[in-house]
Amino acid sequence: MNVYDSERMADVLAPLGYRTVDTPDNADMVILNTCHIREKAAEKVFSELGRVRQMQDRRRAGGEDMVIGVAGCVAQAEGEEIVRRAPFVDIVFGPQSYHRLPEMVARAARASGRAVLETDFDVVEKFDRLPKTPPAGSGPAAFLTVQEGCDKFCTFCVVPYTRGAEYSRPAADILDDARRMAAAGVCEITLLGQNVNAWHGEGPDGGDWSLGRLIRELAGIPGLARIRYTTSHPLEMSSELIAAHRDVAELMPYLHLPVQAGSDRILQAMNRRHDRDTYFRIIDRLRESRPDLALSGDFIVGFPGETDRDFEQTMDLVRRVGYAQAYSFKYSPRPGTPAAALGAQVPEDVKSARLQALQDLLNSQQLAFNRTSVGRTMDVLLERKGRVDGQLVGRSPYMQAVHVAAPAHRLGRIVPVTIAEGKANSVSGHIPATHAEDAA
Ligand code: 5AD
Ligand code: SF4
Repeated sequence: MNVYDSERMADVLAPLGYRTVDTPDNADMVILNTCHIREKAAEKVFSELGRVRQMQDRRRAGGEDMVIGVAGCVAQAEGEEIVRRAPFVDIVFGPQSYHRLPEMVARAARASGRAVLETDFDVVEKFDRLPKTPPAGSGPAAFLTVQEGCDKFCTFCVVPYTRGAEYSRPAADILDDARRMAAAGVCEITLLGQNVNAWHGEGPDGGDWSLGRLIRELAGIPGLARIRYTTSHPLEMSSELIAAHRDVAELMPYLHLPVQAGSDRILQAMNRRHDRDTYFRIIDRLRESRPDLALSGDFIVGFPGETDRDFEQTMDLVRRVGYAQAYSFKYSPRPGTPAAALGAQVPEDVKSARLQALQDLLNSQQLAFNRTSVGRTMDVLLERKGRVDGQLVGRSPYMQAVHVAAPAHRLGRIVPVTIAEGKANSVSGHIPATHAEDAA
């Protein structure tokens, strides 16, 4: 979502004459778009700011200036502290305020020496005021925010505080955006939201639509070949959405469905509102709908009170489900969240050992999944040039990175690729001879 937000900031600033550059050193403006989800990400902001300040000093020594902005969830949660600790920062603004960037830039120019701080929560106004251009800099695959915020209040998580309450954009606006993106050459859309499968809204027909219904409608847009959505909560996997995985060919057979932990005790302490069996049942129903569905997830190890037995339940869940890919983290206490105040915090070395064991298992599953692709021919959307000359990199339907020898003019296209090798983080293959020379 931060990538998407950064692209929107570029859109908003374009009419003022700003364009994005590859390196910050000599920029007129530098915006750090920040993440508050774990302590490490939040800490990085202050060290990065130190580096940016040196760039600002060098620009000023040469008679030029550099506007420094801090955006995103660290700005939302720790705006006052940023202003205090880093007085050279000109603008500090949260994730729901960036449509006001032009005003903030103008105010910063007048304010000389005092930072402009914007941490309002008006998400409706934001979407109404964002420019309606196709997203800046997006290739054939692009993001589209349909939902923001979260009302789930998992006890470890800052999102409900930094991104605010759940909000679903109206279906008509989303369909308009998608049509515009498709017309501009986007063929894969990833629908975004912190709780994307909780999306619901009034459809153009006046009915109450779920995400499953929206996906069916999006699939009818000419040019849109692939649809994905992320990130989901297990309890919001409605029957209509599960059925969409069976019926909608454009909906890719890959789902990121975080479970966080495998022990019922820990799931309850996390306020996840479901147990492990409920998760297994949802996975079973999804696999009945779409047998080749590849799954991804998020896991937290070392939540307060997690015992070796609890952790073993997470390992057992992972073995039973089998993931094609996953993200796993050590629990990081976040200020203001209920779990941070719990006793029985798990020692760092225990967290590290559990993370290692979990990641070894997840990595072995990912490698096994990539190896089962060998010999299969699958559609790959070629998204960028590879590091090796003559090589392009794309995505399989299952989100695998695919390396393939192909000429650059095929970028942006979906081509069949026969997979020859499966590695830890990617697969590689070739375009079958019958397709190698079709019209460029
Ligand atoms: N500590 C560790 N991981 C966290 N996540 C969210 N909050 C925390 C935390 N306090 C992880 C969850 C979530 C992902 C985006 O980040 O796994 O799904
Ligand atoms: Fe955070 Fe996701 Fe839980 Fe919401 S559902 S509180 S975003 S982990």
